[in-house]
Amino acid sequence: MKKLLLAGVMGFFILSCSKKESTEVPGMASETSAVSEPAKAALSGDQIIETLDCSGCHSVNERMIGPSYKEIAEKYSEKDIELLASKIIEGGSGVWGGVPMAAHPQVSKEDAKKMVEYILSQKK
Ligand code: HEC
Repeated sequence: MKKLLLAGVMGFFILSCSKKESTEVPGMASETSAVSEPAKAALSGDQIIETLDCSGCHSVNERMIGPSYKEIAEKYSEKDIELLASKIIEGGSGVWGGVPMAAHPQVSKEDAKKMVEYILSQKK
């Protein structure tokens, strides 16, 4: 009797398990691709900027709350990539006026550098 019950439980477990797999795989795949780091690593600087809030304060040509990417590109050069990348992550103020730049602690150094490289490439 006990064995039969066990077999029944096992059977139910296997059944529900395989059923779960077949229904959850597509949903899980789309969920992980939206947040996973390897997928993000394939993005270019301007694509990373699109996934973040940068465009709320910056545009390529016009000064908004923050300086335009062109202005930043004219002020800085390749040797400032490190500095600007940490400014994106840590935030800061006092370079362009009284308004502070928002911090982005969720951004990796690598992604921040890619964004800086994109911004610096906007120099005409
Ligand atoms: C809440 C508005 C806001 C958001 C959001 C924002 N910025 Fe800024 N950003 C600013 C302001 C204001 C400044 C000027 C800060 C200063 O005067 O030091 C600035 C400055 C900068 C600078 C120049 C830093 C310097 O020291 O000259 C870079 C590069 C930059 N932002 C990139 C970005 C990127 C990339 C993002 C998105 C991850 C972003 N910003 C999001 C407002 C913002």
